[in-house]
Amino acid sequence: MIRVLGIETSCDETAASIVALGDDARPAILSNVVLSQIEEHAAFGGVVPEIAARAHVEALDGIVEAALADSGLALSEIDAVAATAGPGLVGGLIVGLMTAKSIAAAAGKPLMAINHLEGHALTARLTDGLDFPYLLLLVSGGHTQVVAVRGVGDYERWATTIDDALGEAFDKTAKMLGLPYPGGPNVEKAAAKGDASRFDFPRPMKGAAQPDFSFSGLKTAVRQAASAIAPLTEQDVCDICASFQAAVTDTLADRISRAMTRFRETFPDARQPALVVAGGVAANLAVKTMLEGLCGKGGFRFVAPPLKLCTDNAAMIAWAGIERLTAGIEAGEDAFDFVPRSRWPLDGVSVPVVGSGRRGAKA
Ligand code: KG4
Ligand code: ZN
Repeated sequence: MIRVLGIETSCDETAASIVALGDDARPAILSNVVLSQIEEHAAFGGVVPEIAARAHVEALDGIVEAALADSGLALSEIDAVAATAGPGLVGGLIVGLMTAKSIAAAAGKPLMAINHLEGHALTARLTDGLDFPYLLLLVSGGHTQVVAVRGVGDYERWATTIDDALGEAFDKTAKMLGLPYPGGPNVEKAAAKGDASRFDFPRPMKGAAQPDFSFSGLKTAVRQAASAIAPLTEQDVCDICASFQAAVTDTLADRISRAMTRFRETFPDARQPALVVAGGVAANLAVKTMLEGLCGKGGFRFVAPPLKLCTDNAAMIAWAGIERLTAGIEAGEDAFDFVPRSRWPLDGVSVPVVGSGRRGAKA
């Protein structure tokens, strides 16, 4: 039996969780506490790093206590402490990693500095027991990536965004149209009442040989369309949202089909090819339905973990810790010297994308 305390503070969720791997090799989430800071940031229309860091400082001790209490375990019964050490907003990362170092040092437990993206990448094994290899689409406010997940610690990034993250594009579109933060759910709601054929927005990168994503041109097209017909009626807003969402799903479909073909070529022996979706945008029904359809056509299993494990949480960090321990990647002494990394590519070998601009808060 292994039990790991996970801590996540890389963006605007303060989270702690305890996950166990039983002797029967079955994982169990013993507690999963997530405090969202959405209200603190809403007035600013996006995450304000300083406010986030301060909110983490105020909340984290209580959140860790709550995670321990919910699990019914004492700190002495925990085998290791795992904390997100990057990528993310550095203020929050410092709060989480320092807290984890203190707890681990005081309790005499090993410490693991976990890559947040590894947490997202391995979640489908916690929820669905998926075998390697599989394909991961991570679409959140900070990331838009396609990753081939070969094994624990063995990842290959096949595509990333060269400018905005997809969630960021939803949030910026919402802001331009006067919809409240976070934008994604509000754009989706408005889109349901809109006419997707009214605006012919660009499908960025569609058909391009380069596998990456780009959303800033789409964002500009939305801004131009909105200002051309201002002032906007409620129906105008709904039509823009519907047209934007259609452009997004179309582009994603093109990019993911390409990645699926590459997966088949790279892993011809994979018994059951699977596509896993993670990140907040996975909540979008149009995106999910499109991915399901692609998987059906391409003979891929479609895995969408429960939303609260798709969005930022600490269970995925604790689980990444367990995966590392069971794979024999020991938590070395040097984790105590680990300095938080605001940028930390998952595969360590991917070169920066040529021509990239800003790639989201957590790229
Ligand atoms: O994974 P997440 O909770 O946090 C990180 O960014 O790491 O993702 C949040 C992002 C936000 O950009 C939000 O607007 C987007 O996910 N999102 C959505 C929907 N729900 C959340 N985007 C589109 N449709 C949704 N229903
Ligand atoms: Zn995340």
